[in-house]
Amino acid sequence: MSEPSSDTPAAMESRTWSERRLHSPSAGRNKAAIAHELARILPADAAVLEIGSGTGEHAVAACQAREDIIWHPSDPDAQSRASQDAWSTECPGRIQASRALDVSLADWPAGLPETDAIVCCNVIHISPWRVAEGLAKGAENLLSPGAPLVLYGPFLEGEKTAPSNLEFDASLKSRNPEWGVRARDDVETLLARHGFDLEQVIGMPANNLMLVFRKTAR
Ligand SMILES: C[S@@+](CC[C@H](N)C(=O)[O-])C[C@H]1O[C@@H](n2cnc3c(N)ncnc32)[C@H](O)[C@@H]1O
Repeated sequence: MSEPSSDTPAAMESRTWSERRLHSPSAGRNKAAIAHELARILPADAAVLEIGSGTGEHAVAACQAREDIIWHPSDPDAQSRASQDAWSTECPGRIQASRALDVSLADWPAGLPETDAIVCCNVIHISPWRVAEGLAKGAENLLSPGAPLVLYGPFLEGEKTAPSNLEFDASLKSRNPEWGVRARDDVETLLARHGFDLEQVIGMPANNLMLVFRKTAR
């Protein structure tokens, strides 16, 4: 595969390229903390679906932290999927071939294998709100009662919002008015409508949060 152009695609974090593996400096900084928390949260022997897997580095860190899980990466972006597949060789047999999933599309869970957990990092602020809506609707259809849905990223929390997240919100909106750091309340309300209870809010480095939702039994 030839080198990509130096232009970073609009919906991506900054990335560098080595062979087919992309490296994201931000994933490099946060992957250990994310994997550490996921290792506690994910069910035993879980089949984990990741939405918007980006470079694929989170898949490797999570599978190295938990040797019993199987990871299903996905992304609508072909170059990202190629990178996820290239990184998957770090955990032979445990990271499956990446799927082309765009959660803003209706019926995105159709044909997916049984899924015990969904993980989605840094996607819903850098995409239109309909992506969060599609994620919530599809997760409701895909997951069984008791299964976790884990979101990681920045969130607005009223007066508690970190100034860096307000600045990030403004910069996202200047790039695309449909993007923006999401209000935690809005995300919780959306997920409640789709049958998810908020179970844990975990403070993460650099003013990010991990929100752990669980599908209710109803
Ligand atoms: C900022 S990157 C985050 C990548 C990775 N999760 C991380 O935290 O390093 C956002 C990712 O979301 C993906 N994405 C954007 N729109 C999406 C959609 N509608 N459905 C699924 N993924 C989407 C992009 O292709 C990109 O890989």
